[in-house]
Amino acid sequence: SWRTSPTRRKALAHLAGLMAASPIGAAMARPDPRPLSEHHRVLSLPEMQTVFDFEPVFFGNVPRAIYDYTAHGDGSEFTLRRNIQAYDWVDIVPGRAAVPASQVDLSSELLGVKMKFPIIIAPTAAMTPLHPDGEIGMYKAATTASNTLMILSINTSTPVAQVAAAVPGGSLWGQFYPLENLANSQRSMDTYQNAGVNGIIVTVDQQASYYERTQQDRNLSGRIARPRGGRGGGAALTGSAKYRINGGRLWYTWAYIDAVRKMIKGPLIIKGILEPEDARLAIEHGVDAIIVSNHGGRSMDYGPSTLEVLPEIVAAVNGRIPIIFDSGIRRGADIFKALALGAN
Ligand code: GLV
Repeated sequence: SWRTSPTRRKALAHLAGLMAASPIGAAMARPDPRPLSEHHRVLSLPEMQTVFDFEPVFFGNVPRAIYDYTAHGDGSEFTLRRNIQAYDWVDIVPGRAAVPASQVDLSSELLGVKMKFPIIIAPTAAMTPLHPDGEIGMYKAATTASNTLMILSINTSTPVAQVAAAVPGGSLWGQFYPLENLANSQRSMDTYQNAGVNGIIVTVDQQASYYERTQQDRNLSGRIARPRGGRGGGAALTGSAKYRINGGRLWYTWAYIDAVRKMIKGPLIIKGILEPEDARLAIEHGVDAIIVSNHGGRSMDYGPSTLEVLPEIVAAVNGRIPIIFDSGIRRGADIFKALALGAN
C-alpha cells in the first residue's frame, strides 16, 4: 500500500527513490558528502559514501515494517548508539614517518580466503524484502565485484543451495544459531556443507531479547516477510517471550561447541565474543576465528560497544587466531580504526 498511498511524505519518498536511481540525476549531481537530511535532493549512487547516506534512501524505498526491523536495536538503543559513537573517541594521529602511497596495500587474507580489502559481508536476515535480488545479488556483488566472502544468515530468504550455485567457486560461509538437539544441529551442518559452504559461524550473541521496539512500540500490526521465526503481528506474547527472552537459546555450553566442532569440516567461527576470557576459551575449544560482535546493538542493551572491548580481546588472543569484527561500522574510517586497534 505504501506505493499507492497519496500522503505527501510517502509520495515524496517514492519520487526521491526514482531520482536516486535515475542516470540523469546521477550525471547532473555534484559530489557532496553531506548527509541527505541537509539536502533538498537525493544523493546519486556514486555520491553515497557512508551508511548514513544510504539510510534515508532506504527509508524512502521499503515498507515501514522492513525499515523498522532493519534500523532499530534493543531496549533504549543505548548500545546501538554507543557502537556508533565509540568511533568518534578514537583519534587518528598523523604519523611522523612518511609512508609512500605506493606501499599502501589493502589486500588481506582470512582463513585462506584472499580478499582485495579487509571487509566481508556479515550475516543478515532475509534480504529479499530489502531488494529483489536478495541474497544472490549480495553474493554476486561480494564475490565477483569485490572479491571477498559472504556469510549467509540462517534466516536467509533464498535457500543456501541456490545462493551457493549463483557463483561457482565463490567463498560462502554459513551462520547458525546453536540447536540443543544435536541431530538437528547435524542436519543444519549437512545442509550447509552439502551446498559447498565451508566456514560455519556459530552465533552466541542473540540469546536474550527480541527486537521489542519494532515489535511492540512501532509496528504493532505489521508482520515482515521472513521465511521463519517471524514475530510480531500484534499477537499476545506468552511465557518467556513476554519478557523478551528467547527460551530456546538459554542453554549454551562449551561442551556444545566441542560437539559441533566434530560436525564441521572447515573452519568454525564463534560470533558474539565480548570478553577476553571467552576469546581464550574459544581457542581452547578449537575455534578457528572469533567475531567480536554485539549483534549491532540489536540483542541486549546496556552492554559496551564492540570497539571498546576490542583491544583487550586482541591482547588475549595474541595473534593466535583471526579476530573478525562488527557492530557500529558506518564508514571507511570506522574500519580503519578497528583495524588499527587490532581487528583482522
Ligand atoms: C537477526 O539476527 C537480526 O538481527 O535481524
